[in-house]
Amino acid sequence: MAAGAVLVMGAGSVGCFVGGSLAAAGVPVTLVGRPRVLDAIARQGLVLSDLDGTTRRVPAAALRLAAHVPADAAPSLVLLCVKSGATAQAASELAAALPAGTRVLSLQNGVSNAAIASAAAPALKVLPAMVPYNIAELAPGAFHRGTVGRLAAQDDPALLQWLPVFERAGVPLDLRADLLAIQWGKLLLNLNNPVNALSGLPLRDELLQRGYRRCLAALIDEATAALDAAGIEPAQLAAVPARRLPMVLRLPNWLFRVVAARMLRIDAKARSSMADDLALGRRTEVDAFCGEVVRLAQAHGLAAPRNAKMVELLDGGWPAPPGRFTPQRLCAQLAI
Ligand SMILES: NC(=O)c1ccc[n+]([C@@H]2O[C@H](COP(=O)([O-])OP(=O)(O)OC[C@H]3O[C@@H](n4cnc5c(N)ncnc54)[C@H](OP(=O)(O)O)[C@@H]3O)[C@@H](O)[C@H]2O)c1
Repeated sequence: MAAGAVLVMGAGSVGCFVGGSLAAAGVPVTLVGRPRVLDAIARQGLVLSDLDGTTRRVPAAALRLAAHVPADAAPSLVLLCVKSGATAQAASELAAALPAGTRVLSLQNGVSNAAIASAAAPALKVLPAMVPYNIAELAPGAFHRGTVGRLAAQDDPALLQWLPVFERAGVPLDLRADLLAIQWGKLLLNLNNPVNALSGLPLRDELLQRGYRRCLAALIDEATAALDAAGIEPAQLAAVPARRLPMVLRLPNWLFRVVAARMLRIDAKARSSMADDLALGRRTEVDAFCGEVVRLAQAHGLAAPRNAKMVELLDGGWPAPPGRFTPQRLCAQLAI
């Protein structure tokens, strides 16, 4: 059954991988993005690789590439795939071009992007979703999925027809009633992104230093206290329940290596995409992660000073780079 056409708003790592996978499965896909990304795809098509070693190629001819939302676009589904800071602008561009009621799936991290997009595009029907896996741009036009998992989206009857399509495309999608819990579960894990970005190290090397892990544990503690106050139970997305994660993170290195062997099964060169944003001088999503914790804490009469400090370190002097932080220096900044 043809579910219709898909428009990807923000053709980057997530947009090209998920949109490209759907195109490879025969879905008509339009990628709206920047020339840096689209020119490479126009030249050589998309290369989508997976951690199981499989590679799919999508010829440029199988895609529609556009710098702006085409005036004649009438997609059945939009995948909103810009970074959090670009959400409002992207949503207003969608609103200006698309029919009212168009379904927009926010495949973004954080917990507020769907609400931000809805506010900027009230006529569109924006639904939150969550991408559990890591996708990296290995080279222009080449995107690699480095971890596993299934997409999750807010339960909506209009998405039912898409489930077999996403399944066939190798990007299976589950509809969930408890998406906020899932988003918070992911956000807790995303609190490592700013730590990783400030460390200047690959993820594995960073996680093998107890000082950085103590910083992450402290950020998660503040977040879980705020979640408790708000009555939100975050979903468990890692091998360890969110509440036990700080205890595991604080273990001495030798024990952490044993207990967290699965967590450490990461490509030796893998970094968080926030580290890439810093390297490219782009504003990071720290406000959508640590900033969100600060706001939730404040809304319930609590403070989250360590998360606030991370926002200050990464955002305070932007666009000036914050520099590299040793574990000792970061612990000192966070008063740990
Ligand atoms: N990558 C991952 O592994 C991963 C996994 C799970 C979730 N996520 C989340 O998914 C979201 C997207 O992440 P990503 O890594 O895919 O980001 P990305 O690679 O930076 O892709 C976003 C692309 O959208 C472009 N863009 C921004 N505004 C636009 C507009 N108005 N029109 C057209 N293009 C626009 C950006 O260009 P400019 O940079 O020039 O603005 C960029 O090329 C984030 O919320 C992220 O946290 C990412």
